[in-house]
Amino acid sequence: MAAKPIRLGVNVDHVATLRNARGGALPDPVRAAALAIEAGADGITAHLREDRRHIRDDDMHRLKARISKPLNFEMAATEPMLDVALAVRPHAACLVPEKRTERTTEGGLDVLGGHDRLRPFVSELTRGGVRVSLFVEPSAEAMEAARSIGAPVVELHAGAWAHARETGENGRAQHEFQRIKDAARKAHALGLECHAGHGIDYDMAREVAALAQVVELNIGHFLVAEAVFVGLGQAIREMRAAMDEGRRHAH
Ligand code: PXP
Repeated sequence: MAAKPIRLGVNVDHVATLRNARGGALPDPVRAAALAIEAGADGITAHLREDRRHIRDDDMHRLKARISKPLNFEMAATEPMLDVALAVRPHAACLVPEKRTERTTEGGLDVLGGHDRLRPFVSELTRGGVRVSLFVEPSAEAMEAARSIGAPVVELHAGAWAHARETGENGRAQHEFQRIKDAARKAHALGLECHAGHGIDYDMAREVAALAQVVELNIGHFLVAEAVFVGLGQAIREMRAAMDEGRRHAH
């Protein structure tokens, strides 16, 4: 069976980080989003943090109004954030941990301990026509908990894998990638759509795109970092090519 195409969601948070460093209007994350789509992004991701350190409420509204591809709204599971999300009505929302108490040691949303607290957020967003994903660590227990919470999508946290690669711990990196593989299979078996994100670079994108169960990658920091040297459009085209190459070897 041929693998489904894999989508690239470009996270524009750090374009806003740069803008906020000066306190003015440049660079505009909405312009970056339009350029990203032109260069091959299948969607735009932005994280409205409680302290508004990069993306602001107005950015979310402008992104929703102006971009031609789906918007993925990353957010903490809190009442004020739910109000903003329901006002923006993005295509998708990804629930992410913001406070220490909401996350596991690896950084994913604590879907086991937070099960009953998270469930109403998933149902409210779903009722509002928003497709909900949960940003979780790649473990079988997290996949089962995500399903029981009622989310149709999981985004596997690739941070531990990225960190092991960055520090040159090869054995650890292999182990972490294996966990992503196993979790992707488990998610698929449970009927969950599977995404991955955090810390992904070209090589990691190539590898993870070879997992047929993973249908979307959300990538921000590496693309903005590359953009400083080669431009955002070129960085996205290279990322798209890396993902397509990986997908050709999907299994
Ligand atoms: N996916 C989720 C759920 C995130 O919170 C983030 C930002 O940390 C990303 C993807 C993108 O990660 P990065 O900026 O490291 O590519």
